[in-house]
Amino acid sequence: MKVKVSRRAHFNAAHRLYRPDWKDEKNEAVFGKCNNPNFHGHNYELIVSVTGEIDPETGFVIDVKILKDLIKSEVEDAFDHKNLNLEVPEFRKLNPTAENIAVVIWNKLRPHIKKTDDLEVVLYETPRNFVTYTG
Ligand code: NI
Repeated sequence: MKVKVSRRAHFNAAHRLYRPDWKDEKNEAVFGKCNNPNFHGHNYELIVSVTGEIDPETGFVIDVKILKDLIKSEVEDAFDHKNLNLEVPEFRKLNPTAENIAVVIWNKLRPHIKKTDDLEVVLYETPRNFVTYTG
């Protein structure tokens, strides 16, 4: 009997989407507002879910306090109120799109989750736009 346990979190961060090897016009055409050279912020909403068997001893799939602390140390402390392009090493050469941010978050969390459990990351860049990565 598998159960999915989810924890919601939040961080604010600035980014710019562009490729230095593309001309300004092409960056503008592909990335639009997110190509603003002066950066801009998003209020990211994150939902991290762990799916697995219930431990018969505790009744937990994962202790949500552990999940909460993990999200804080791996995601919030690393990304909150940061400029993703300039301050977060993972995005030095990787465009900080919602897709790439979700993959980076998943990769940071995965080693801390029990091997037999499944991990899912849902990242909202705006209330209407969100991406999902499950590995
Ligand atoms: Ni943007």
